[in-house]
Amino acid sequence: MEDSRARRWAIPYHYECLNGRVDTLLARHVNVIRDCRVLDLASHMGTLSYAALQLGAHHVHGVDTEEAMVRKGEDLFSRVQVSPDSYRFEVKDVFDFLEKCEPDSFDTILCFGLLYYVMEPFRLLELMARVTRKCILLDTFTARYAALQGKDALQYYPNVSDEALDLPVLLTSLTQSEKKDYRLPNAFPYKGKQLTLTNFPSRALLEIWFQILGLDFRFLEWDDYIQKPCHWRDLWTPEQKQACHWADVYASEVRVSYRLAPPSDPIG
Ligand SMILES: C[S@@+](CC[C@H](N)C(=O)[O-])C[C@H]1O[C@@H](n2cnc3c(N)ncnc32)[C@H](O)[C@@H]1O
Repeated sequence: MEDSRARRWAIPYHYECLNGRVDTLLARHVNVIRDCRVLDLASHMGTLSYAALQLGAHHVHGVDTEEAMVRKGEDLFSRVQVSPDSYRFEVKDVFDFLEKCEPDSFDTILCFGLLYYVMEPFRLLELMARVTRKCILLDTFTARYAALQGKDALQYYPNVSDEALDLPVLLTSLTQSEKKDYRLPNAFPYKGKQLTLTNFPSRALLEIWFQILGLDFRFLEWDDYIQKPCHWRDLWTPEQKQACHWADVYASEVRVSYRLAPPSDPIG
């Protein structure tokens, strides 16, 4: 069966994009990965957990609500003979998991492709800030993505200005859960489809949230992978999306990534 994730316009699961993500999001932060206790929130089938272990993490704990993906990850890990002592995967909602964690339970938290799926993104940041000892690595879509994604993009586009998307705003839009290889918690039926609300903060809002929580933050650059300047409006039509390079979402800040640190252990 063909794997359609490799052809997705945004964050395709093909080797170039995955290698770029592993480099930018993990390998460049090896000082907070090697010998560390790593929590991978929304671990999916364990791809990034595996990379963290390859980079020398002491232990990785993956948490995801999609049981089929968790089991697939466990199967893959056992097939490539990853030491069972070095990882654990759990089927759980990240809020249920984090609320029960003691402060400083993990050195480093990976939060990739998750923040926009939760109903309370600020609360998720707050919980992660309490549970991490050293670092949170975050990779997420911004409000610009809400103006581009799905059928609504055609209506959104002429009505949203750059200035509006630069404000500290949170745009909520709908996504179709069943089009993905995982289901989303909080899905509801509407006109015969399963829909879920997604929440996309602008970069300005994200950085206000970090400051409110006292998190030291560094914006991560994707310059080594960006092919050309890209504006979010360059990714509007289906043809533009199909023709884009995977790193265009970073060039246009449709997606952003950060390294965050609690005040007790600033990035330096
Ligand atoms: C876009 S994938 C991200 C996979 C991986 N972290 C990455 O960046 O490539 C989103 C994942 O989040 C999981 N997910 C969504 N909401 C969740 C929640 N509240 N708790 C745990 N997992 C959740 C989904 O099951 C899915 O596996």
